[in-house]
Amino acid sequence: MKKTLLAIATFSILLTCCKTDNATTNKALYLNPNAPIEERVEDALARMTLREKINIIHAQSKFSAPGVPRLGIAELWTTDGPHGIRPEVKWDEWDQAGWTNDSCTAYPALTCLAATWNREMAKTYGVAIGEEARFREKDVLLGPGVNIYRTPLGGRNFEYMGEDPYLASQMVVPYVKGVQEQGVAACVKHYALNNEETHRHTVDVDCSDRALYEIYLPAFKAAVVEGGTWSIMGSYNKYRGTHACHNDRLLNKILKEEWGFDGAVVSDWGGTHNTDEAITNGLDLEFGTWVARKGGGNPYDRYYMAHPYLERIQKGEVGTAELDEKVRRVLRLTFRTAMNPNKPYGALGSESHTAAVRAIGGEGVVLLKNDNNNLPISAQAKNILVVGENAVKMLTVGGGSSSLKAKHECVVLEGMLNHYKGVANVSYARGYVGDVGGSYNGVNTGQNLNENRNAKELIAEAVAMARTADAVVFVGGLNKSDHQDCEGTDRKELGLPYGQDEVIEALAEATDHLTVVLLSGNAVEMPWVDRVESVVQGWFLGSETGNVLAAVLSGEVNPSGKLPFTFGKKLEDYPSHAGGVTFPNDGPTTYHEDIFVGYRGFEKAGVEPLFAFGHGLSYTTFEYSNLTLSSKKMSKRGELKVSVDVRNNGACKGKEVVQLYVSDLASSLPRPVKELKEFAKVELEPGESRTVHFTLDKSALSYYDDVQGCWVAESGDFEVLVGSSSADIRQRATFTLK
Ligand code: BGC
Repeated sequence: MKKTLLAIATFSILLTCCKTDNATTNKALYLNPNAPIEERVEDALARMTLREKINIIHAQSKFSAPGVPRLGIAELWTTDGPHGIRPEVKWDEWDQAGWTNDSCTAYPALTCLAATWNREMAKTYGVAIGEEARFREKDVLLGPGVNIYRTPLGGRNFEYMGEDPYLASQMVVPYVKGVQEQGVAACVKHYALNNEETHRHTVDVDCSDRALYEIYLPAFKAAVVEGGTWSIMGSYNKYRGTHACHNDRLLNKILKEEWGFDGAVVSDWGGTHNTDEAITNGLDLEFGTWVARKGGGNPYDRYYMAHPYLERIQKGEVGTAELDEKVRRVLRLTFRTAMNPNKPYGALGSESHTAAVRAIGGEGVVLLKNDNNNLPISAQAKNILVVGENAVKMLTVGGGSSSLKAKHECVVLEGMLNHYKGVANVSYARGYVGDVGGSYNGVNTGQNLNENRNAKELIAEAVAMARTADAVVFVGGLNKSDHQDCEGTDRKELGLPYGQDEVIEALAEATDHLTVVLLSGNAVEMPWVDRVESVVQGWFLGSETGNVLAAVLSGEVNPSGKLPFTFGKKLEDYPSHAGGVTFPNDGPTTYHEDIFVGYRGFEKAGVEPLFAFGHGLSYTTFEYSNLTLSSKKMSKRGELKVSVDVRNNGACKGKEVVQLYVSDLASSLPRPVKELKEFAKVELEPGESRTVHFTLDKSALSYYDDVQGCWVAESGDFEVLVGSSSADIRQRATFTLK
């Protein structure tokens, strides 16, 4: 009997060994690329030891997780995101690794992408950045970001896609698909309610479920449900008392149960704070936790989901069901990316990438104001003056984790000199001094922007030169240093920094041909707006900044960008600041403006913005006519077809973003005056006319009912409003929902 038992025991040990041995041969199911991913996941999971399972769910270095070396399960390498591929840092330090092959293409900031209102541009962006990530052997791209533009003081707004949930949803989906076609996972961030930098680890956000579902979640949901994102990053802030990186409601209930997310939840770097919550509340992969180096051993073992988790299991305090679920999700992510044998090879710094930067930038630049057809710069202009620090400053370095080491960055002055070579004389005056520094994490621009003259002298020089110039282009805005457009800090005021207003006012006195170009990811106050001829919102445009802006200013490219967020006249006009509400906040913070964010709030309060959501001019004009609805009635299961004719009335080719808003004429809950529900970008030759078609269903008419916990489309009358911006509605028609 004893012998038999011994034989059985030996046999089963042998079997286990065989299974383990097999693991490293190509016969193992999990290594078979043709086997369904779920079977590979279960097979790999069954072969892993407890320690290996613990290891795979947290980082081994600043940007990588270890995989399972014994089984040949690959490491996962992540990278920022979202505007280009971050240069390599050391294994366990933020310092530069000192590689010489890690410079990238710098793409326009996501605010610019959103301003294109062109889904194809989002796809182009995703493909291009995905190719660069792939070439650099990265598996997870930490982006895009889709937090809603709640306040113009938000330091990271430049990394996001504006104030409207529908626009952000429409733009995030193609970006995610484009990235993932390259075998690289998108990691959509920062989920959720990450609208402040100053106290980003301790602010504890609460908002109504209506605001959550109608405003703050739709873009994340679209990225999951329509975009099929393979990973998502939890945000730093708390939501209703618990950090978002291990928040049961956000992660388990909404993301995984309601939306069916099957990918991995990645913590933001240092966003994990509690082992027990991390175990049960839906976090799958822990990165960036700040653990003391002292204490010997491997510091990564001290992560919340490392030894502390292992110990709880070994002591029998928790089981392994949650662990297995996390491991499954990490394995799925690995098989979809690092261990996808069919992934493309990628490419870095290709002509197509430069073309993408130019195309996205060219379509994203917004012409805010253009009196007397001041732009494009007259072909007769022989003396063009460029003024301002942002015309010469490299803006791809700085701003936090999105900082880049670009292969090249063509600044505005360089672009203007390129464009006008042999055609006109382009001169330059500094105008103001902002931030003369230019380094982030050891990447230096190498620029020397030091200036000894004082503000008065700089203005006097610019004004004297402006008097004899045929065209004056002031290039200012914000930059990527603290309290500008920068992670980790928020802006302190809506106004322009560094005394730029005085420079602009002085230039406006000296010339009748003044264009103000603002490079920023945020709205700014413009006390001088009535005294300048043109205003251009130029965002952060990446590698081709100067070439893109020269093309727009000269008329080679006809601007077609539209604002993805409202420019208010003053800070208190923003719904999030109305009534003197303070920002930033530490601890409990209620989003008192509820669903009335951005234009929804401006319109409710009847406050006229400086430039409305969706606004953007062109060098041509468009006429709208013939709005037609397929029926005057719509059933709750039915659809409504909408068509409208758009004609290019001017003398040059141009693109127009046709925007469709819906207004609920009577409802039991307060609703915005109108909400964006569709848009299309069309290109028209002079004199050309096109019929643009849209289809609406009840989702375009619904609101989220907090009490019932579901979307409701109420019977009654609705109005369809079609126009060129939220404030420039050209056609209207009503219908009834039965
Ligand atoms: C940022 C993330 C970024 C991560 C890694 C964090 O501080 O919030 O957006 O992806 O660092 O650099």
